[in-house]
Amino acid sequence: MSNETNLKSMNDLVALCKSRGFIFQSSEVYGGLNSCYDMGPYGVELKNNLKARWWKSMTFRPDVVGIDASILMHPTVWKASGHVDGFSDPLVDCKACKERYRADKIDIKQPCPKCGAKDSFTDIRQFNLMFKTQMGAMEDTASMVYLRPETAQGIFVNFLNVQTTMRKKLPFGIAQIGKAFRNEITPGNFIFRMREFEQMEMQYFIKPGTQKEAMEQWKEARWKWHLDNGIRAEKLKWYKQEELAHYADAAFDIEYEFPFGWGEIEGIHSRTDFDLKQHEEFSGKNLHYVDQVNNNEKYIPYVLETSVGADRGLLMVLCDAYRVENAGDKDNERTVMKFHPSLAPIKVAVLPLMKKPELEECANKVLFDLMQNYRCEYDVSGTIGKRYRRQDEIGTPFCVTIDYDSLTDHSVTVRNRDTMVQERISMNKLESYLKDKLKF
Ligand code: GAP
Repeated sequence: MSNETNLKSMNDLVALCKSRGFIFQSSEVYGGLNSCYDMGPYGVELKNNLKARWWKSMTFRPDVVGIDASILMHPTVWKASGHVDGFSDPLVDCKACKERYRADKIDIKQPCPKCGAKDSFTDIRQFNLMFKTQMGAMEDTASMVYLRPETAQGIFVNFLNVQTTMRKKLPFGIAQIGKAFRNEITPGNFIFRMREFEQMEMQYFIKPGTQKEAMEQWKEARWKWHLDNGIRAEKLKWYKQEELAHYADAAFDIEYEFPFGWGEIEGIHSRTDFDLKQHEEFSGKNLHYVDQVNNNEKYIPYVLETSVGADRGLLMVLCDAYRVENAGDKDNERTVMKFHPSLAPIKVAVLPLMKKPELEECANKVLFDLMQNYRCEYDVSGTIGKRYRRQDEIGTPFCVTIDYDSLTDHSVTVRNRDTMVQERISMNKLESYLKDKLKF
């Protein structure tokens, strides 16, 4: 039995993400841009797999459809939603060392946590987190627009478009994946809190009065989704929000235990009819729903929202998968990313035992066949042991090795990432063998 340990420090994960091509600092050659990150070749595959699973879980059901709204929206959207007046954090600066803090995250009666100066904080100021930009050639306020701080408003303003064109009856949902931007005062913890990030949000439109049962339904569905992605249940917990946002009458977060402590992954919010009512008032358009099932009763639907960060979800997947086996044992230590196979960026690695033309020719045929169904990688450089370790570190569930016996017995060795057990499989049964193991 191997002796397995979990991720202890974020530094280990950051180093692996860089060295193995998952995540790079944005604009690194220029010294980096704080709290912005680029997905490398394995990072983008992993994140795309996560987003695809979310999209499938939402839109492979009769009552949810998807949209892709634009990032730039009419500026009045953000007045109506309350973001212009209320989407701000309290900010203080240390006058001695110039460090900036969120006033609600430190005790401002205590000395500065960075330099130790006493009574050095400025007065608290409210700092709006929305990024502004100019639209068109005129540099006046009329052309000022915001980068959306949440994707949800793109769904709200399309409620009637979707409901009427799709002929949807309540309850129904609209799902969306897209970028959001927040000028966070204290970003950090790698990709946990970024200034540019992606959200996966779904707004479920319901009859007023049914929000409690919708909350229960979606709490259960969202919890199960994380478990289905292989996240360990003991690393997840619910947090009931007591201080509710201006639009909510109930809110629960799913939290994950990161090496730096518990952090929110997903919010499930009962948003009442706040947003649609506001958009009706600010736009002057009638956003009432006509309930044909209930005597053509007219009302503004209530909304149950599920909102999970794609990048924060990705960070959870990376942290949860990271294991070190036999730590400190020079010969047997290995770092392995135990991704759920559906999320793994590469499903199968094809490895000729040696760099010999006859082995490579055979391996290329195997690779070509497997590539029709799976994202594969071919690697011929270095010892086979080193190549296995490399695949372990990027979380490839299966390695297929072609040796000299393969040329005569038409079999290959399949190595399982998690157990390291090796099985001899006939080449003509390889596809069905993998199909069975990579079924999700
Ligand atoms: N529409 C509701 C909404 O945006 P939120 O709790 O502010 O609610 C939802 O954000 C999710 O978006 C969070 O649970 C988190 O996963 C992700 N998120 C929020 N701010 C983020 C940031 N600065 N960096 C990365 N992810 C973030």
